[in-house]
Amino acid sequence: MPKYTVTPGTLVPSTPFYYYDFDLLRRTLDAATTEAAKYGYHIHYAMKANVEPRILREIQCAGLGADCVSGYEVQCAVENGFPPEKIVFAGVGKSDREIEGAIRAGIFAFNCESLQELEVIDALAARLGRRVNIALRINPNVRPETHKYISTGQAESKFGISYTEIDQALGKLHSLNHIRIVGLHFHIGSQIRNLSSFAELAGRVNEIAAWFASRGVELEHLNMGGGLGIDYEDPDAEPVPDFAGYFRTFHEHLRVAPGQTVHFELGRSIVAQCGELITRVLYTKTTAGGANFAITDAGMTELIRPALYGAHHRIENLTAGTEERAMGLYSIAGPICESSDVFARDIEFPESRRGDVLSIRSTGAYGSIMASNYNMRPIAPSRFSDKLN
Ligand code: LLP
Repeated sequence: MPKYTVTPGTLVPSTPFYYYDFDLLRRTLDAATTEAAKYGYHIHYAMKANVEPRILREIQCAGLGADCVSGYEVQCAVENGFPPEKIVFAGVGKSDREIEGAIRAGIFAFNCESLQELEVIDALAARLGRRVNIALRINPNVRPETHKYISTGQAESKFGISYTEIDQALGKLHSLNHIRIVGLHFHIGSQIRNLSSFAELAGRVNEIAAWFASRGVELEHLNMGGGLGIDYEDPDAEPVPDFAGYFRTFHEHLRVAPGQTVHFELGRSIVAQCGELITRVLYTKTTAGGANFAITDAGMTELIRPALYGAHHRIENLTAGTEERAMGLYSIAGPICESSDVFARDIEFPESRRGDVLSIRSTGAYGSIMASNYNMRPIAPSRFSDKLN
């Protein structure tokens, strides 16, 4: 049964649009903050998942900081009320302008991704007469079980400073007077459902932090990045992700020195399940080979994850949910002139008709934010469950 149903004839706003369930967002934030508070952990929301201002406001009011990967996100976080001292800035290619902007904003820490970036931040801080906090983003060579395009922590990835270069990084830090190392940062990938990957990460962090401690470097914080996965198969079975298990895994495996704080950068697990992409069936047709297609008014321009990663999203026919309809095999495809613009292939689906309203579930993260204007299509609007539209 779909989460919602639409009786035929009901007035549904013009499609496509993103729909956000604020009750679920609040329950998710409540679970995340309650579980993190058990161990005194800090959460920074990964802005890259969704920057809808009303969503940002909820997240900021729940007390989370922000994790940014561009100067634009830093600016957006500040404009939406996130205190600069709770903002971290990662990214493998920060431009001079972006770095300067973040220095002026007075952010908590830069997560530095290369030896050269250390020198650039030092020089820009010197020019501005500032001394800035940096955390070294270290590539720990942990390979999580997830899609290769969203895995970042293995040795051959472009992200972070190689664990083989930390000696050199430390040597360099001694001569750079406008940056101060305050922490270590790690992020091994996204949509990680097997918590043992995080236990493995914690083990690697223990070794690396001990290496720094043995050289007299006092680390004020450890940042474990994000990556907690969600249930795309059955979003109603687990609407709120397993924050309890996630934070407990770190509590059990990560060694924390006295006075040290532990930080996380969660994106998908905070916002994915509260969002749905609502679309209408424009046409149905059957190919010569007998395959049924439902062509929708949303496409890869609104949600690129299936085309880009072969990602699975549960799709529900909200109109058929109210009626007895025969089931069949359907492919659900968008209107864009690209063969890859298909949301799902040959899924068991109720017989679908022109005008039916469909929901593409679990799209609150990496959905609207990755939208494009391809085919000159406008960006789909957002609607909210609490009627303050
Ligand atoms: N921190 C850093 C440094 C990151 O690179 C990311 C995500 C996060 C935190 C947040 O990770 P999360 O908690 O959301 O897993 N567009 C892809 C996901 C790309 C994730 C990139 N980095 C997708 O649609 O699956």
